[in-house]
Amino acid sequence: MTDNAKIDLLRSKREQSHAGGGPERVAKQRKGGRHTAHERTDLLFDPRSFRELDAFVTHRSHDFGMEKNKPFGDSVVTGWGTINGRLVYTFSQDFTVIGGSVSLAHAEKICKVMDMALKVGAPMIGINDSGGARIQEGVDSLAGYAEIFLRNTLSSGVVPQISLIMGPCAGGAVYSPALTDFIIMVKDSSYMYITGPDVVKTVTHEDVTHDELGGAMVHAAKSGVCHLVADNETQALMLARELLSYLPSNNMEDPPFMPSNDDPLRADAALDTIVPDSPNKPYDIKEVIRKVVDDGIFFEIHEQFAMNIVVGFARLGGHSVGIVANQPAVLAGVLDIDASEKAARFIRFCDAFNIPIVTFVDVPGYMPGTAQEYGGIIRAGAKLLYAYCEATVPKLTVTTRKSYGGAYCVMSSKHIRGDLNLAWPSAEIAVMGPDGAVSIVFRRELEAAEDAVARKAELVKDYIEKFASPYVAAERGYIDDIIEPRDTRARLINGLEVFQNKRDSNPARKHGNIPL
Ligand code: HXC
Repeated sequence: MTDNAKIDLLRSKREQSHAGGGPERVAKQRKGGRHTAHERTDLLFDPRSFRELDAFVTHRSHDFGMEKNKPFGDSVVTGWGTINGRLVYTFSQDFTVIGGSVSLAHAEKICKVMDMALKVGAPMIGINDSGGARIQEGVDSLAGYAEIFLRNTLSSGVVPQISLIMGPCAGGAVYSPALTDFIIMVKDSSYMYITGPDVVKTVTHEDVTHDELGGAMVHAAKSGVCHLVADNETQALMLARELLSYLPSNNMEDPPFMPSNDDPLRADAALDTIVPDSPNKPYDIKEVIRKVVDDGIFFEIHEQFAMNIVVGFARLGGHSVGIVANQPAVLAGVLDIDASEKAARFIRFCDAFNIPIVTFVDVPGYMPGTAQEYGGIIRAGAKLLYAYCEATVPKLTVTTRKSYGGAYCVMSSKHIRGDLNLAWPSAEIAVMGPDGAVSIVFRRELEAAEDAVARKAELVKDYIEKFASPYVAAERGYIDDIIEPRDTRARLINGLEVFQNKRDSNPARKHGNIPL
């Protein structure tokens, strides 16, 4: 064979590998607004930076007619490329080839890039579009998936792992993403379920659509499985790029520094009046966040889930930070099961990847009642406490209004290694709100009082003066300073710079035992 013929052969094999499951299946894939596996990698990476590996791998199965169906590359595209110039590894499953299902060879391709990403300390982005373990391969495909799960787990906290869900994903194609740090789904074209509607119908006789069972909004708002929702695939891929811009490539690096033209000393007078005079009136904590961070840009995570707490990334003076904030505009910012789990997971991610945590506190406490108790608020609430306690990254706290009871202890207080604890003059730090406190402490006196209403009002006034302020905590040094709200940005940026070389550690141990 001549050299030219050899090159022609290579080109033809590569073309076959690019052809996926053939024109018919590719056309079907496109109908749902979906892209092919290669188109997705092209969109994800910086132009012409993607380098494919293992394009000539084939599966080794002979059962159920598989010996005649051995496409090059099998049902996944793997390789590396750059995102904003930084190295990132990926796999992109090809639904047009045997439903993107995972053969042993497919799993080996994924494991190879996961091993490389871990070795060189680069993020891993999985583009999932798969019916799960390949039925025709039986235990071999299960073995392959188990190898992927192992690598997801061992990479956790070492390199960031982001999962994009780009089609109907079932079985292992949801459990592997579930082990990663962030899941991005696409509205109306991506689904996650243990198994699809047809199998559900057979097993439970339930009639559900793909969307009702595992659509993007179901997982974003109800189950909390999905962290970010996109309107289309291109937007999903852009969200992954943007998310990475806040993250270091691995746990040994600091997050990227991105200077901005926003003045680090910028004061915002609107913050002085943002907290309503009445302690029970809501306001939007996201407005506070946007007024404080660089250029007003807040990259929110889990926006539709447990909206009574807000988490996400932003920059302060160019430094990447993770923000956790009670949201007084939803359920008065109370901490319930979902809010506790949402924030705990986010805090642990930030701590693993050296991202300082900025906490805005306005919280009436943990949510009482049977629904929460039966659901395990004690266990879930402890997760949040645990996450804040174990975190050793710089922890900066701003109490804007209420900080009552256990929630005071939990929300990055001084006592659990808060590095800089600031309060606005509107802050109220106490065991509970004035009404509840007076009713308990003065119950007998109020029962005996001639004019109980007037007496209670008097006692509430006294309580507010004595306890419902930041000054008692500041007298004890539990609050480092009481600041004018307008200065919040400048004080936080200064705090980040002061604590950026902070050294703190936890006792040596195999691992802690977070209450799961
Ligand atoms: C082999 C599969 C497959 C699979 C789909 N296909 N899933 N082939 N193994 N797991 C093939 C189909 O035969 C079909 O081939 C093509 O992919 C497209 O599938 P359709 O069913 O036509 O597509 P759609 O109607 O969009 O439904 C997609 C789906 C459904 C919801 C994913 O295919 C489905 O429910 N598949 C089974 C999902 C499942 O139960 N997986 C669990 C595996 S166990 P043709 O030739 O017609 O194009 C697992 C273990 C993990 O993953 C362990 C967890 C801890």
